[in-house]
Amino acid sequence: MTDNNKPARRFRSQDWFDNPDHIDMTALYLERFMNYGITPEELRSGRPIIGIAQSGSDISPCNRIHLELAKRVRDGIRDAGGIAMEFPLHPVFENCRRPTAAIDRNLAYMGLVEILHGYPIDAVVLTTGCDKTTPAQLMAAATVDIPAIVLSGGPMLDGWMDGELVGSGAAIWKGRKQLAAGQIDNEKFLQIAAASAPSAGHCNTMGTASTMNALAEALGMSLTGCSAIPAPYRERGQMAYETGKRIVAMAHEDLRPSKMLTRDAFLDAIVVNAAIGGSTNAQPHIMAMARHAGAELHPDDWMAYGHDVPLLLNMQPSGKFLGERFHRAGGVPAIMWELEQAGKLRSNRPTVTGRTMAENLSGRETNDREVVYPYAAPLREHAGFMVLKGNLFDFAIMKTSVISEQFRSRYLSRPGHENVFECRAVVFESSDDYHQRINDPELGIDENSILVIRGAGPVGWPGSAEVVNMQPPDALIKRGVMNLPTLGDGRQSGTSDSPSILNASPESAVGGGLAWLRTGDIVRVDLNQGSCNVLVSDEELAERKKAGVPAVPPSQTPWQELYRATVGQLASGACMELAVPYRGVAENMARH
Ligand code: FES
Ligand code: MG
Repeated sequence: MTDNNKPARRFRSQDWFDNPDHIDMTALYLERFMNYGITPEELRSGRPIIGIAQSGSDISPCNRIHLELAKRVRDGIRDAGGIAMEFPLHPVFENCRRPTAAIDRNLAYMGLVEILHGYPIDAVVLTTGCDKTTPAQLMAAATVDIPAIVLSGGPMLDGWMDGELVGSGAAIWKGRKQLAAGQIDNEKFLQIAAASAPSAGHCNTMGTASTMNALAEALGMSLTGCSAIPAPYRERGQMAYETGKRIVAMAHEDLRPSKMLTRDAFLDAIVVNAAIGGSTNAQPHIMAMARHAGAELHPDDWMAYGHDVPLLLNMQPSGKFLGERFHRAGGVPAIMWELEQAGKLRSNRPTVTGRTMAENLSGRETNDREVVYPYAAPLREHAGFMVLKGNLFDFAIMKTSVISEQFRSRYLSRPGHENVFECRAVVFESSDDYHQRINDPELGIDENSILVIRGAGPVGWPGSAEVVNMQPPDALIKRGVMNLPTLGDGRQSGTSDSPSILNASPESAVGGGLAWLRTGDIVRVDLNQGSCNVLVSDEELAERKKAGVPAVPPSQTPWQELYRATVGQLASGACMELAVPYRGVAENMARH
């Protein structure tokens, strides 16, 4: 059956469909698949059964292109001698899911693990797109460890409004400020939102969706050049076909995620994330994927390996362009080519192409220097995340590539106090609390304030919410103050250009330091030291802690309760902790 005259592999699906020891059960397993026209000969031919984890649906609009692409995946699978079986992934739509899409990353993960473990599937195509759909499926592939390949759905076409590029997400954050400043009305705001989303596909900015697809490619889990192709382009359908063909070969080769998902691959993903100005959400997702793969990765690795990496990609929110231009400039391989030449990658590692990453990158230099900058003359130096710690949390990150000139000159460039600032905390208990009170003059918010939100972590929200990029009160925006320092135990949108201090772990809901902060306290941030502290004595903090951990709102559904009972903190990936030790579960397929 296989190329190269290798003996045919016996696939795990044959344990269901072609097992002489269990002919009674085989008949049962086979009969219902025949009801849509598949024949027992096909199922018993020794060909691999290739799952297509379908992430697209009407309520997953970012991934809806996969309903079309799956046809080309099937063509590729069939041409290469496999049998396709498509099934749904639990939907995860970033913008719409309440209380937050983050809670469903672990649900989609768990659902896919069960499907891949319990059904006769030999290898799988992971159809990725919207933010959490990529890590959820890669986490599951790592746990199950059957051959798996990522097919990105691709970003939307570039958005245009009044002759200017408008990127999804980024246009919303900007529009909200314009609305607050009285520069646009509601109708114009809706027009901008529509213009930023002109076609099928996921976010066209380097938000979390494009980031996570780029990192899947950097990990070696998709074909070369896969992630950046816009959803409606002809190359997207062609990539779907090639992906379908390749997964059949991978099934024969038994090329599993555990070969790709190594510490080296995750360190490269951290490096690539800095170079593309990637989303802050990459931090928990990378950590979660690494932990499920059993690869050693530490929260401090973001600082040790990523911080000094320069920004090479000129794409919103850190830069100017959107997804179409990035694709034409060479996409992720062009960025990695720069990093490879500079000796920044560990590229002698396997990928789903069957070649090493170094081989995949050969000849991939960009032809568009407005979009992909040379390593030696980057868009910005030291573009990776800062890792911060102190008496408010053990771990938080700050995305330095989005720090504006205004923010830099106001907070980070004061002579004698470079990269150090002290601000008066204004504390919000939730996003509702923020929206109700942000314009209250009583709060006395000015340029010397730091806006703090708590109760927004994995347990508190639940799921952990993208709420830390709080915009200043309208009065300040009208005066031209577009960003204040912000801090929180939640996350922020990957399309935001706010240099917030995010993902603070442990969160306030489990007794983290933010729980004891009060409005009026002075918070000192020192980016030279990587520290963030409230200037309150230990005795005073101990006194405040006597009040006990703040109550969290009750769970509204069974899954929320289960999630809260099992989830860890953002620093360690917000995994279901009890799931982390499970690996290679396809091996122990119980036949009951
Ligand atoms: Fe789904 Fe951005 S909201 S990709
Ligand atoms: Mg998001």
